[in-house]
Amino acid sequence: MPYFNARTCSPTNLKDKVFVISGGSTGIGAATVDYLASLGARVVFGDLNRAASESLVEKLKSPNVSFQQCDVRQYQEVVALFRYALSEHGRIDHAVANAGVIEQGNWFDKSLTIDSVEQEPNALVLDVNLKGLIYFSRVAAVYMAHDKSPGEDKTLTLLSSAAGFIESRNLFLYQCSKHGVLGLLRTCRLAFPDAMKGVRVNALCPSFVRTTMTKDIAASWDAAGLPANEVEDLARAIAMLAAADSATAPGLLEVEKRSDGIVVNEMNSTGAMQWGVVEGQSGLTGRAFYLEGGVCWDIEEGLDRTRHLWLGEQPDGQIVKVQQLMRKVGYRERD
Ligand SMILES: NC(=O)c1ccc[n+]([C@@H]2O[C@H](COP(=O)([O-])OP(=O)(O)OC[C@H]3O[C@@H](n4cnc5c(N)ncnc54)[C@H](O)[C@@H]3O)[C@@H](O)[C@H]2O)c1
Repeated sequence: MPYFNARTCSPTNLKDKVFVISGGSTGIGAATVDYLASLGARVVFGDLNRAASESLVEKLKSPNVSFQQCDVRQYQEVVALFRYALSEHGRIDHAVANAGVIEQGNWFDKSLTIDSVEQEPNALVLDVNLKGLIYFSRVAAVYMAHDKSPGEDKTLTLLSSAAGFIESRNLFLYQCSKHGVLGLLRTCRLAFPDAMKGVRVNALCPSFVRTTMTKDIAASWDAAGLPANEVEDLARAIAMLAAADSATAPGLLEVEKRSDGIVVNEMNSTGAMQWGVVEGQSGLTGRAFYLEGGVCWDIEEGLDRTRHLWLGEQPDGQIVKVQQLMRKVGYRERD
């Protein structure tokens, strides 16, 4: 699989670029705000947590960092975040949909009965991680497309998770929300070249990252000797996806040395990675990277290239025809 190592990346083309990030007050978001500001980027972050956000702004003491309180579940608050960023900086170049919460309670608690199941459960995780992310992505894409000239590079980066594609015990709503994020990625990479002037869109699917979200399993993770991501790895990966325009992307992804001699990280002629060759797109787009120990492995290319193996030759052939048809028929707007 194609990969890049976030720990050895240092993007050089983000100075003065304007970023908007959700959930920037702690964890991955805070490290990203800090790292981007250190590269000379201008960063506006939105977060629910006013106290933590203000203390981050105070700690960084950077004229390039500002905060606007924003609950991503509230559409108008997301709009206000982008309106504020545009009024402060005159344009928006990159957006990072990072805000998220971990599983709350147990959706399929074995102590549930036909009486207790009558009580409506809390679906906060879906509201923040999926509905909030979709709200953020919509407003972000429109604000970035608003004044985008053809040569300009703009990106949306989505925080999914390893739980976005690997089964994860007892993370019922979290897992659904992070799968949903990859669904959004896959449809946006087809739609954006036409609908959003070629704004690039990618996703990150980290395994364990050392933040408050994972504090309960940190000791067991380390004891098992598993590779951990640090928040700085995520900050660098997020920065690199934004930096991977048509000039930077070609040298970014390395190719895994495989014993069978198959060359990966290439488009093939059977319809694979069609999103990468759509007119008007340039730079790295449509990818979802699994992260462990700071290394970012692209899962989309492998899924696409090997579909005839995991799905079978016959259905794979049909899917290629369906995709060709859908490209011809196009997208029809519905009421
Ligand atoms: N920590 C991990 O191991 C890990 C792994 C995979 C994916 N992720 C994802 O990375 C993202 C960041 O997680 P983190 O580990 O830094 O956690 P974190 O709890 O440190 O940070 C989450 C941030 O989101 C903010 N937030 C929560 N609800 C919000 C809302 N409604 N509106 C606006 N902001 C809100 C919080 O205030 C906080 O600042 C999340 O989407 C998470 O699912 C984390």
